[in-house]
Amino acid sequence: MKLWGGRFTKPTNELVDAYTSSIGFDQKLAKYDIQGSLAHVAMLGKCGIIEQDEAETIADGLKHVLNKILAGEATLSQADEDIHMNVERLLIEQIGPVGGKLHTGRSRNDQVALDMRLYLREAIVEIIGLLGAVQTALTEQAKQHLDTILPGYTHLQRAQPVLFGHHLMAYAYMLQRDVERLQDSWKRVNKMPLGAGALAGTTFPIDRHFVAEQLHFDAITENSLDSVSDRDFVVEFLAAASLISMHLSRLSEEMVQWSSAEFNFIELDDAFSTGSSMMPQKKNPDVAELVRGKSGRVFGHLMGMLTTLKGLPLAYNKDMQEDKEGMFDTVETLKGALGLFAPMIETMHVKQDNMYHAVRNDFSNATDLADYLVAKGMAFRESHAVVGQTVLYSIEQGKYLLDLGLEELQQFSNLIEEDIYEALAPETVVAARNIPGGTARVRVQEQVDDIEALLETNRQWTEEQAAKLEG
Ligand code: ARG
Repeated sequence: MKLWGGRFTKPTNELVDAYTSSIGFDQKLAKYDIQGSLAHVAMLGKCGIIEQDEAETIADGLKHVLNKILAGEATLSQADEDIHMNVERLLIEQIGPVGGKLHTGRSRNDQVALDMRLYLREAIVEIIGLLGAVQTALTEQAKQHLDTILPGYTHLQRAQPVLFGHHLMAYAYMLQRDVERLQDSWKRVNKMPLGAGALAGTTFPIDRHFVAEQLHFDAITENSLDSVSDRDFVVEFLAAASLISMHLSRLSEEMVQWSSAEFNFIELDDAFSTGSSMMPQKKNPDVAELVRGKSGRVFGHLMGMLTTLKGLPLAYNKDMQEDKEGMFDTVETLKGALGLFAPMIETMHVKQDNMYHAVRNDFSNATDLADYLVAKGMAFRESHAVVGQTVLYSIEQGKYLLDLGLEELQQFSNLIEEDIYEALAPETVVAARNIPGGTARVRVQEQVDDIEALLETNRQWTEEQAAKLEG
């Protein structure tokens, strides 16, 4: 007999059980479900809604049930639909009919909303920690490469030389915004929905604030209909996760390119590369490729959740059970990628000579020739044209700007003097971009210092929240 079987005269069709049950995936919520129930039952006892000794019996029973589930000793059944009813069934088996008092003043609708928030809080703290490890790996590599020059690209054409440290710090800042987005979402995740009941609230004199305090929520949700029917905190998480995945995917793409023979800028450590079953010479950047590939499923989960929610009338609808698998998968996917990325970046071997060679054999100092002429009084638009002609001439001669003799250069402008060679050297070109945010060594060092300070702030935030969650 179902826990809700009273008004039914027939058992549920087996196919219906199989189709509608969520126990196959929401058993992941067991720990949070029982954590929430412990707070709820403590409140029921405190408010005199059930007897204090009944509350204690139920609490003990719940702990027992959790241990059984975690040890894999509990039988979870499809007929009991979901984790909430399975736990209740196991509780009643454990302690007898008094277990039936647990669900007083509560519905699975507010219960599942609570579980989702409890789960996501922990996931957010963990993911911010993992993002920090990747940011640290990027920053440590950047510090090793404050003198390593490589071509910076636009349109994947060599554009202007930059420091490799500067390039890596760009990603450290992307991930910093990802951290801040997750921290911001925390304000909305960390509200306690229990008490909403099925949709309208409850007739019992419950104390929602007490439950919120027990579970370390900052506040209670404000509207019972909203509490059980919205999952915008899940959408927000999936959106933040999509941006993280997108950033990791771009960095992955660069690592794939850089480790190709065509670029030959880095070599990934053997421990983070894989081979080919047929071609003995191959060393493939599979991890980077898979991180790039898996961004697709994360974006998909975001679209899936938005689409599931878009046509739903208030309040709870069974459609919302679809909120779970995408969220779980997103958390697992992110954890996998971030966990691998930190050591993959730490151990990556940077081929600075090849990078420098690439810079030396391109026209990425052409802007600097134009700027040189401007400094000597020529209008930028005119200097742009002059340098364009110089580049064209160089290409015809099979040379780069630094290979041209002084007389050759002076054909294009008599403003050009001997100091041009110093001005066009990659080191000078990089050092000249000495404005905040620029690629000059001192400016990249500023970025490193800034990120290191932010990492410390992130670490403190994470520790504070983790300490609260552990209670
Ligand atoms: N398994 C359900 C879910 O995840 C729990 C809430 C069910 N509520 C209900 N009235 N059927 O959404």
